[in-house]
Amino acid sequence: MDKHRRSQSRLPLVDKITFEEEVSELTDANKRLRRKIFDLYTIFEISVHLNSMSSSDQLLNGILLTCIGQMGVGGAAIMLSPGTFQEEHKSTKMPNDFSLELACTKGLTYKGERFSFCPNRRLYHLMLSQKRPIYYADAVHALEMRQTEISKLNSLEAALIVPMILKNQLRGIMTLTNKISQADFQENDLEFLSILANQLTVAVDNSRLYLSEKEANLKLAAIQKQLVESEKMAALGKLSASIAHEINNPLGIIKNYLLLLKLDLEQNNNTLSSISIIQDEVNRISSIVGQLLDFYRPHKNVFQALNLEGLVKETVGIISRPFEQGGIKIMLNDFHNLSEVNGSFEQLRQVLINILLNAKDSMRDGGFINISSSRNGDFQSISISDCGSGIPKEHLPHIFEPFFTTKEVSNGTGLGLSVSYGIIKNHGGDITVRNNDERGATFTISLPLKDKVKEKSR
Ligand SMILES: Nc1ncnc2c1ncn2[C@@H]1O[C@H](COP(=O)(O)OP(=O)(O)O)[C@@H](O)[C@H]1O
Ligand SMILES: [Mg+2]
Repeated sequence: MDKHRRSQSRLPLVDKITFEEEVSELTDANKRLRRKIFDLYTIFEISVHLNSMSSSDQLLNGILLTCIGQMGVGGAAIMLSPGTFQEEHKSTKMPNDFSLELACTKGLTYKGERFSFCPNRRLYHLMLSQKRPIYYADAVHALEMRQTEISKLNSLEAALIVPMILKNQLRGIMTLTNKISQADFQENDLEFLSILANQLTVAVDNSRLYLSEKEANLKLAAIQKQLVESEKMAALGKLSASIAHEINNPLGIIKNYLLLLKLDLEQNNNTLSSISIIQDEVNRISSIVGQLLDFYRPHKNVFQALNLEGLVKETVGIISRPFEQGGIKIMLNDFHNLSEVNGSFEQLRQVLINILLNAKDSMRDGGFINISSSRNGDFQSISISDCGSGIPKEHLPHIFEPFFTTKEVSNGTGLGLSVSYGIIKNHGGDITVRNNDERGATFTISLPLKDKVKEKSR
């Protein structure tokens, strides 16, 4: 220590002064650097915080409180350009009818209405070109602002005007009152405010984008819901109309025959034949209602691993006799090595019977029905090919629709194929039809292999 003091005291006077100056300069620089680091850190913290706020009001309040606290000013205000995100402006020209709206104030005596502020072109250009805070006094004197706009800035007690710029557009202005200490704003303050304003503009824009996106999504969801509802109602209306139509016919017949029965009973004639007609029609109603219920009633969990070969052979065994009586022989050709599928034995048997009965109806002169099998990737297919009348081209798009039938009222309800379609789709499979090159039609059912499909419940 003594040695050090001795060596210092031995320095010439001029050198000593320069040395002390250097030390003091370095200390100042160090202080400035520490303040800068502190400012930047604060801005970083604020940005993270602000970007997590989704409500605009909360965001603006947060911005103003931060400025007031950091700068030690009495109050602050924010004016923003209305509207949301816009494309980047190529020119720095002020858009016609450009205006800002007072969005939030803090710590001001002004408690009046939220007004619009229209900066003149000179102020607009100055802010866009300088991109840093402007002293209010300079702006008022140098920029020839209109009295109305000056009085608005006065009501906000503006001492400093901080532009908020994004994508080459002036998105808003932040105004700050004088410092409570009446001290001047320092270069550091201006730098801090410029960086902060940038961050805030991004946060405000993000929050607006978020809100407008949320609004658009809500609108879209509402429209979609409406669309689905109206489609559902249309489908339901169509279905109800066809059910009413289908049930109306047998009901009309029943009504007429009940009338006849009444007359017959009075004369004691023909009663038996009327009753059997009524029975037929009641059966018809009950078959329509039964098939509809089958179609729309949720099925219990009756899915199991199925051997399609067994299912087809058993079904053919049951119905082959009435077929043979009509001169129709069911053959199994190319029908082997079938893979197991997951499904309902009862439902799939109903599909097979529906298809086979339709084939029989189309083969007035008898003939062969051929059942074959094939594997396509993860699907096991069964094809049922008849040599009947085939399906007219114009009927092809309609045969799976409920109540589409070309048969006499007493022979068809038009529900067999639509029920079958529902069952196969519910199994995660597909049912298709095509006319054969020569005669007749071929129906193909494809079902996903066991373990390749997750069971669906209707
Ligand atoms: N194998 C087939 N050959 C010719 N036409 C068929 C065949 N299968 C179905 N169709 C046609 O599809 C219509 C609808 O069949 P479906 O839904 O089973 O009702 P339905 O048998 O009660 O008429 C039949 O009326 C018929 O016109
Ligand atoms: Mg049928």
